Amino acid sequence: MNDKFSRRRLIQALAASGAMAAASPVLSRTAWPILGSERGPLRIVFYTDVHANPDPETAAALKLAAKGINAWKPDLVLGGGDLVEGDFHMSAEDVAPSWDAFMAMHKAVKGEHHVAIGNRDLVGVLPKDGSPPIADPRLMFKQRLGLDRTYRAFDARGYHVMLLDAVHISDDQYKYHGWISPEQQDWIKAELSRIPRGKPIILTLHLPLLTAFFGATKGMTLGAPPNRVVANNREVLALFAEHNLVLVLQGHLHVSELLRWHGTTFITGGAVCGRWWRGSYYGTVEGINGITLHPDRVEWEYIDYGWHDARP
Ligand SMILES: [Fe+2]
Repeated sequence: MNDKFSRRRLIQALAASGAMAAASPVLSRTAWPILGSERGPLRIVFYTDVHANPDPETAAALKLAAKGINAWKPDLVLGGGDLVEGDFHMSAEDVAPSWDAFMAMHKAVKGEHHVAIGNRDLVGVLPKDGSPPIADPRLMFKQRLGLDRTYRAFDARGYHVMLLDAVHISDDQYKYHGWISPEQQDWIKAELSRIPRGKPIILTLHLPLLTAFFGATKGMTLGAPPNRVVANNREVLALFAEHNLVLVLQGHLHVSELLRWHGTTFITGGAVCGRWWRGSYYGTVEGINGITLHPDRVEWEYIDYGWHDARP
């Protein structure tokens, strides 16, 4: 960022406009119309890409993140995956201290709280000793969060909230693809068939269903690799074509982005860990999203929860 658009000047401008009534600085804010639920308002905090690890610095950051989430007083908290800093080579044992760190944050967050799975939350896919993958690389995620399935749906004040599992293990150079399985697509169809046609829907998943990130950073003629986005996004979005999909909350890219297409707003939610605990990434600082759904509009803001990397 140059001086003209520096973060300090943005914060000063927001403070002058009265946008900083809360303790944590709001870095971006906007609103747009929707056909929402008459039972609103519904206040949601959406956070993503925590990358929890056993580092004491991270524990301090996660305490601040939980405090920032609670200070916003949400009715519902949604997490977008990559909760821990695991990887496909790690065993359940290797990643256990990172899960302890994440669960401390999870427990500190008050109220209703649901999280989607990210690629970093799978373990034992490619064991270091060359042994075959473990029977269920998602088991740790499910066990720690008390879940029997990684995709699910619930009602929140007249909104149908759906969490998807967008990680598909592949045997190519990418190791995984963003992909919504046929089994999940059947489940989506069944869910949609039993809710009223106009009911507003919120989707939460780890890899983006739609993004301008690769156009902006690589060039508009280049597509995204299959491990960075949901590769069968058009197929998935077509399932919602006759429905009121108001919001898609997505992560993975660690940048804050808003994109509106066919009446749906896609929010790429930045990252709790910013640039993997090393500052900001493409101008997005460590932050969380505050979203208020009114019957006629959505208000969204990206909030600096107060932790910044001070390490050299
Ligand atoms: Fe991530």
